Amino acid sequence: MNFQKICVIGLGYIGLPTASTFAAHGINVLGVDISPHIVETINKGEIHIHEPGLLEEVKKAIQSGNFKAAAKPEEADAFIIAVPTPFQENKFGEYNGLAYKLADMRAVTSAAESIVPFLRKGNLVVLESTSPPRTTVDLVAPILARSGLEAGRDFHLAYSPERVLPGQILRELIENARVIGGITSESAQAGRDLYATFVKGQIIQTDATTAEMVKLMENTYRDVNIAIANEFSRLADKFGVDVWEAISIGNLHPRVKILSPGPGVGGHCISVDPWFLVESAPELASLIYNARLVNDAQPHFVVKLVQRALGSLNEKKIAVLGLAYKPDVDDVRESPATEVIHILQHTGAQVKAWEPFKLDANMKGIDMASSLEDAIKDADAIILLVKHTEFTTLNPNELAQKTKARIVIDTVNGWNNEVWKNAGFTLFRLGNNKSKI
Ligand SMILES: NC(=O)c1ccc[n+]([C@@H]2O[C@H](COP(=O)([O-])OP(=O)(O)OC[C@H]3O[C@@H](n4cnc5c(N)ncnc54)[C@H](O)[C@@H]3O)[C@@H](O)[C@H]2O)c1
Repeated sequence: MNFQKICVIGLGYIGLPTASTFAAHGINVLGVDISPHIVETINKGEIHIHEPGLLEEVKKAIQSGNFKAAAKPEEADAFIIAVPTPFQENKFGEYNGLAYKLADMRAVTSAAESIVPFLRKGNLVVLESTSPPRTTVDLVAPILARSGLEAGRDFHLAYSPERVLPGQILRELIENARVIGGITSESAQAGRDLYATFVKGQIIQTDATTAEMVKLMENTYRDVNIAIANEFSRLADKFGVDVWEAISIGNLHPRVKILSPGPGVGGHCISVDPWFLVESAPELASLIYNARLVNDAQPHFVVKLVQRALGSLNEKKIAVLGLAYKPDVDDVRESPATEVIHILQHTGAQVKAWEPFKLDANMKGIDMASSLEDAIKDADAIILLVKHTEFTTLNPNELAQKTKARIVIDTVNGWNNEVWKNAGFTLFRLGNNKSKI
């Protein structure tokens, strides 16, 4: 299939790099977003998110005339849906008395609805948003059928998940293997033709539900494995073992690869996607369900460690370093750091947070510092919650001049005991009850 013009619906962390990469490869791209601010920003050749290299790529694409943004789709050869699929805020499912989270599919529904008036025979529609199994077949196809056209007969319909790493998106979009699940083999082939425009990694064709399941399995696999690392951190703490040392020794086994514990699991994917499997079959997903509970409870374990370090937290001033859900990105969605802060505030602590990637952050209920110095100057203790390079390379001797805090709590194994001790600090580390030095 030949593609002259495509519409990318949703211009966030996934849609914008995808749209600009297609444009850079000579395809005429209309990017669609419901946010007027985002449309306006992109049409000025600017961007609203932090991703290395993206600003230059978008600027070039806009200047070339291959890319523009708009509030509504237009007729095109292909439509790509890359809108959010979070979970619902205040609604839960229930199985055997246990509550589980539910996917919020409103954005996918309205994105599919927005395509209907512009859908023509021979078009290709691809859903990229991470979705519960059977979404392409049971949710998207029936909506698109309102056009009078049938998926698989009159137009192609496929599911192709995104597996890029924030911070490396532009490179990984091109180099990663990509799975394309069609509702027919012709739909999968049409999807392949589209992404072969720029994908250099392997392209694997399968059916739509398998492709949906693959994406959910990948992220669930990581969530369950982080849960076991987090559980190990609690067990190590109980038995006076340094979990980091134990993991590094365990990983010398040629068939063992234990991941790192931390303050919890966040982000738009790993902390969300396993719920899509639980929701779809709670009677079959007890391990996945329990792994989610372990990871969601980890911020409480962090606060217990802070209490051990400081005693009562009432009125204690605590500087928190890092709000993002992982190192060196600005994404704070579902971040466990915000959960740690809220629990600390509940205990009476006064928390000031410093997130260098979110200088303009207006985080609900969180006192954001304007600089590292502002966060730490009056603090009784400093907690490291995200392994940003900027934090792991801090010089404790210089820091000691800027704060009265002499207690530091490292939840990510980002700081060296000896170096901090020599600078006059007492360091507590998650998963290491023997580490107080
Ligand atoms: N961010 C990641 O690293 C990542 C990785 C893999 C998969 N995913 C998945 O990709 C999907 C998109 O994620 P994201 O991180 O790009 O989200 P995002 O929130 O960064 O961007 C989504 C964009 O869609 C827009 N939008 C919402 N409803 C719309 C509609 N009806 N029409 C047009 N625009 C609409 C929003 O305004 C927003 O700009 C999600 O399903 C996510 O789980 C994300």
